[in-house]
Amino acid sequence: MSGPGANSPNGPGTNSGAGPGANSETNSETNSEINSGANSGANSGTNPGTGTGAGPWAGYVRAMREYDLPAVLAIAAAVPTAPHWPLAEFSRMLDVIAREPTRRSAWVAREGSLVQGFAILSQAAGAAELEAVVTAPEWRRRGIGLQLLMAAISWSRSVGATRLQLEARESNGEALRLYARCGFASDGMRRGYYRNPEEDAVLLSLDLQAASRS
Ligand SMILES: CC(C)(COP(=O)(O)OP(=O)(O)OC[C@H]1O[C@@H](n2cnc3c(N)ncnc32)[C@H](O)[C@@H]1OP(=O)(O)O)[C@@H](O)C(=O)NCCC(=O)NCCS
Repeated sequence: MSGPGANSPNGPGTNSGAGPGANSETNSETNSEINSGANSGANSGTNPGTGTGAGPWAGYVRAMREYDLPAVLAIAAAVPTAPHWPLAEFSRMLDVIAREPTRRSAWVAREGSLVQGFAILSQAAGAAELEAVVTAPEWRRRGIGLQLLMAAISWSRSVGATRLQLEARESNGEALRLYARCGFASDGMRRGYYRNPEEDAVLLSLDLQAASRS
């Protein structure tokens, strides 16, 4: 995820091969509300997190919209490993998604009027890339990251990807545990991939065909 250089990846639109995503509200296959209603099983409520609404997550994941962006930027600003793109970049990403909804995708986790997390993906030649998955610090350990990842997997399948891949900082234990829980396997390391601070990247991927057979 967060690419080399700073902690943020290429800005949306600069991601080669990563086209748009599935976020046009009219595309029911590639863009749907992924988890409406209570969070079934992803979090039993025994890890209520620190948010004011501690308890089982009763939110849903849906395609990111323009009016989500101020909240998305606020979350990103609070998370060093999130993409720190300016508003215009996020906006451009949503334009690209609207035009080419099978090549790029962005999702938000919401509960009531709150945006609590987001995920951004791209897809090219059958390989989907998870560019970012972020839960606001105050809403962690309530199953939101898991639901965002489920949305990412679901979108990747819906656009015909056979693999979902990503990279993460070697020290990012929370993220690595989340991915392991979802069945991602290691594809090795990329030495010195990250800057500020410099760190190796762990390369991970999920075989979507195998995952759908199991
Ligand atoms: C990684 C991240 C998205 C997880 O979000 P989250 O909403 O807290 O994740 P969930 O509540 O869905 O956790 C799902 C599972 O992941 C694992 N996990 C997540 N955070 C963990 C932590 N701090 N310690 C141990 N396991 C953790 C657990 O297996 C957890 O299941 P459990 O709570 O039932 O034990 C969140 O920590 C985050 O936003 N980190 C900063 C951004 C980032 O680094 N993203 C990844 C690279 S872009």
